[in-house]
Amino acid sequence: MRLEGKVAIVTGSATGIGRACAQAMSREGACVTIDYVGLADEANQVVDDIERDGGKAMAVAADVTKWDQVQNLVDKTVSQFGRLDIMQNNAGWEKKYPFLDMPLDIYQRAIDINLTGTWIGSQIAARQMVKQGDGGRIINTSSVHEDLAMPTNAAYCASKGGIRMLMRTIAVELAPHKITVNDIAPGAIFTPIDKEIEENPKVEEQLMSEIPLHRWGKPEEVADLAVFLASDSAAYITGSTYFIDGGMIRQSGSL
Ligand code: BGC
Repeated sequence: MRLEGKVAIVTGSATGIGRACAQAMSREGACVTIDYVGLADEANQVVDDIERDGGKAMAVAADVTKWDQVQNLVDKTVSQFGRLDIMQNNAGWEKKYPFLDMPLDIYQRAIDINLTGTWIGSQIAARQMVKQGDGGRIINTSSVHEDLAMPTNAAYCASKGGIRMLMRTIAVELAPHKITVNDIAPGAIFTPIDKEIEENPKVEEQLMSEIPLHRWGKPEEVADLAVFLASDSAAYITGSTYFIDGGMIRQSGSL
């Protein structure tokens, strides 16, 4: 098992990519805290599933935009499982609007949850890891849109681009503490965040036409990458983005 003895927090892990990452880390031996907002039943279900498979997990409600709640998330994890080795800043949110019509509060919410949430989670987790003195892993669930423009999603793209430079900068600052920081940049993964597209075959086909491998990715495929980046095998990897997008970032017009 690749994460034996490790302790992980995955934010936004009641559903989607976060849930798959938490479950995969648990299968590799990590104790995992399932962070959620609002989705208590789903979060408790993830804990039940992990425990049924012989793993250790607990669910904690914490809004990643609230400093005190994230501090409480880390404190509870440390008091329950003894330490913190892996922080996956995964909670994310988006709402599409043409730029000319996008209300400021939509922009602000995307920045708060995606970017400020990653900032808060990284800083509080890193302080704990520095205190422990033997390194750690910060992994952000970013997006292919940290680099690829997406019309009608400017706030989301700005937040994910911000995560990229936050990751690159703190990777350098935290390297002396043996804390690595990397981004996973998923493309179109079949999760609730894309419910509207999944329910509309025309739009879905348009999306698939932008993906060289021509299919949705699976949350479990993203989770495999998260486990690798969290493991000792990735000790020399920091400051980088790992795209997992079926080639979407390489799409090109043929005419
Ligand atoms: C977004 C999805 C989108 C995908 C590919 C993700 O970051 O959350 O809404 O379908 O990128 O464009």
